[in-house]
Amino acid sequence: MNDLIRSNLLRRAWNIAGGVSIRVKVLGIVLSVIIALGVIVIYQIRDVLTTRLIDSLETQGIALAGSMADLVSNDVGLRRSNALVTVLQEQQSHYSSNSHNTRVEFIYIANDAGEVLASSRTLSGHRPIIDAPEPIKMHDDAAIYFDGTILEIARPIRNTGWNLHLGLSSASISQTAIDVTLRLLVIMLIMIAVGFAAAIFLTWILTRPILDLVAATDAVAQGDFSRRVPRWADDEIGELATAFNAMTEALETAAHERAERDRLREQYISGVIVAQENERKRIARELHDSTGQSLTALLVGLQDLKQAQANGNSGARIDRLREVVSHALDEVRGIAWRLRPSVLDDLGLPSALERLADQYQRQQNMTVDLVMRGLPPRLPQTLETAIYRIVQEGLTNIARYAQAQTASVVIGQRDDSIRIIIEDDGVGFDPKQIAQSSKSLGLQGIRERAGLFGGTLEIDSTPGGGTSLFIAIPFQPEAQEEIQTP
Ligand SMILES: Nc1ncnc2c1ncn2[C@@H]1O[C@H](COP(=O)(O)OP(=O)(O)O)[C@@H](O)[C@H]1O
Ligand SMILES: [Mg+2]
Repeated sequence: MNDLIRSNLLRRAWNIAGGVSIRVKVLGIVLSVIIALGVIVIYQIRDVLTTRLIDSLETQGIALAGSMADLVSNDVGLRRSNALVTVLQEQQSHYSSNSHNTRVEFIYIANDAGEVLASSRTLSGHRPIIDAPEPIKMHDDAAIYFDGTILEIARPIRNTGWNLHLGLSSASISQTAIDVTLRLLVIMLIMIAVGFAAAIFLTWILTRPILDLVAATDAVAQGDFSRRVPRWADDEIGELATAFNAMTEALETAAHERAERDRLREQYISGVIVAQENERKRIARELHDSTGQSLTALLVGLQDLKQAQANGNSGARIDRLREVVSHALDEVRGIAWRLRPSVLDDLGLPSALERLADQYQRQQNMTVDLVMRGLPPRLPQTLETAIYRIVQEGLTNIARYAQAQTASVVIGQRDDSIRIIIEDDGVGFDPKQIAQSSKSLGLQGIRERAGLFGGTLEIDSTPGGGTSLFIAIPFQPEAQEEIQTP
């Protein structure tokens, strides 16, 4: 039960100590150390000082009592009380003058039975020996009594059976002890003040960089990565500040990169949307202009055919209508093929690429070499589409900008990835300049498409030196088979 209370108290104390700031902790430690030290030191000094002073008072008193006993021995032998009183009073006033640092409170002569022969004070005023029945110590023939304020020394008067009692005040000793204590207290207060100031300065030095760090951490938590903390000193906290700065720097760089990536992606997406819209416009126009016209022509032709049938010469007109229909069919096929080459779905990537290369070769008056090595017969549909669009964009760029004699496309699988190289011997360009302009939608699209599969694009081009695009897309055939087998 007691243990429980104690552990509870300990926890409470620990909670309080843990809850206050470092400054309060340091101040508390400094204060309690100074106060504890001060109290111990003051107590010790007081104790030693009082003991020494009382010892010397004792020595002095013993000698004084001895000489007084010698002085009065004759009168005591003759029991001359009146004469003795006079002598004792003289002695008392003599030793109580300011030139002596001891004060004699009383002198009297009594025997062991308590009978008083003579006293420096009136009989009722003298101090009865009964107050301190047992001496605190014996010193040769002297008995010493002490009640805290008066030191009483009794010495036997030679050959008489009487003792001389001398009472000395210890007030000056108490006064000295109080003086010294007060002085020490003042010193302790000064020490507390100095310790306080030193502790405040120390905690300021200690906590300033920590508070800086806390503020900076808050700022980082709010998303402000530009904050840096000063390195105040070359100590552990300095190390912490350096580590912190390195961390925020890394965060800042990462945030920049992320923002840049987001910006590019956004740009790409909006570009894609615009391109899609343009494509729809183009298809709509194509449908309207060519296919629509063909169908109109067909409608008009059918009308004519009806009349011609009545006249009996429909043969030639039917032939013409067949031409119109087959033309319209070609147009629809062309539009459909541009939208998505069905050969990609029907025959797979290799055939689709061959047709693509063929088409560019015919239309653009340049040689297109297509090499495919070690490709699996079929790839996932999304990957096939991505590769097809990448090659298409590469060839379109060559046709549009390169003014090349030859273009070459190499696709193969190596080291768990599919590699595509699209090269030309044309005019080339400066990839850095293109990367900075926001117009590079095609190349950006290649990068994005490859990126969807964890792949990368590298551009190697110099003005006048042709262009090479290197695309690598991670691909593992085994994992692929696993997916395909249900
Ligand atoms: N094979 C190439 N030869 C020369 N210049 C090229 C080639 N490919 C791309 N470029 C240059 O890079 C620019 C960006 O190409 P791209 O990203 O495909 O955008 P877009 O085709 O819409 O202009 C082109 O405008 C062109 O100047
Ligand atoms: Mg392009």
